[in-house]
Amino acid sequence: MLIRRPPGFALKENQVTSQSVYMHRREFMAAFIAAGGALALPNVAQAKRARQGDYAPLKATKSSYAIEDPLTSWEAVTSYNNFYEYGTGKGDPAKKAHKLITKPWSITVEGEAGKIGIYALEDLIDYNALEERIYRHRCVEAWSMVIPWVGVPLASVLKRFEPNSRAKYVQFITKNNRKEMPGTFWPVLKWPYREGLRMDEAFNPLAFLAVGVYGRILPNQNGAPIRLVVPWKYGYKSIKSIVGIRFSETMPPTSWNMSAPREYGFYSNVNPNVEHPRWSQASERIIGAQTGFAGALARRETHMFNGYGDEVASLYAGMDLRVNH
Ligand code: MTE
Repeated sequence: MLIRRPPGFALKENQVTSQSVYMHRREFMAAFIAAGGALALPNVAQAKRARQGDYAPLKATKSSYAIEDPLTSWEAVTSYNNFYEYGTGKGDPAKKAHKLITKPWSITVEGEAGKIGIYALEDLIDYNALEERIYRHRCVEAWSMVIPWVGVPLASVLKRFEPNSRAKYVQFITKNNRKEMPGTFWPVLKWPYREGLRMDEAFNPLAFLAVGVYGRILPNQNGAPIRLVVPWKYGYKSIKSIVGIRFSETMPPTSWNMSAPREYGFYSNVNPNVEHPRWSQASERIIGAQTGFAGALARRETHMFNGYGDEVASLYAGMDLRVNH
């Protein structure tokens, strides 16, 4: 039997409460450095800095999906990451994700759909039809960013597979390769990383497939070459480096739910009224923003559905979001 290490969230986030002034040191310092601080510390300080100019530019039209809040810096977006296939430290992905081979890339489509098969990425994504969307990104660990993604609506890709009437859910699967993903040596989660949505959620216009960020192709640590972005849900639903899509009649297993079902439900909608069993979700630290007091990071209240209630609340009409968390 494998001896499972507790999930990373369990290891690191149990001190995080909105009432507490205490902040986990590593996260605090990572955010400090991301904000331009200059202390040399493990993980983030050692991470290879992703230089924006090293990533190929993408042509994208501005979309109406944008918010007023200041963008989180490129540096923070590309050096403060969760990608457990590269380790559980926030700086591990930036340090190690260069090992990921992203070309060629294909996605296997299975299950309840008319057009299942193996598709090359270039055949699925029209790189002449990319749009930029500035979305809030709220991690279940109670921190947030504002990120300019580049990509296409998820629905525009899924409908090409002609899901049939039995397709009630869609599952997404991340690449799983020990050589390229050293963190998968550890059974922190059951690999491959999996996520899923109900079909009507997947077809909501907000659901997005990103192939870029900040007008450039995605750095590997952000989920190259293609990742999901579901801005009204906690960040862990936004699965990276997707190689599989499976349509099903029944609710598919998802990684964090399998790991700790009481803490991470299938839906995982951002909800300030339902606390995580070990910390509050009422507010969030804004990565990269400072209050002016040395080291103190700015916070904001967390909004229902991460502020996207007008677009998505109707998906959950009549559901008890405490039970279906
Ligand atoms: N996808 C995979 N395959 N592996 C992961 O560990 N982490 C998730 C999500 N997608 C994760 C993943 C979590 S917890 C978050 S908050 C976001 O990715 C982080 O995305 P970012 O690093 O681009 O900010």
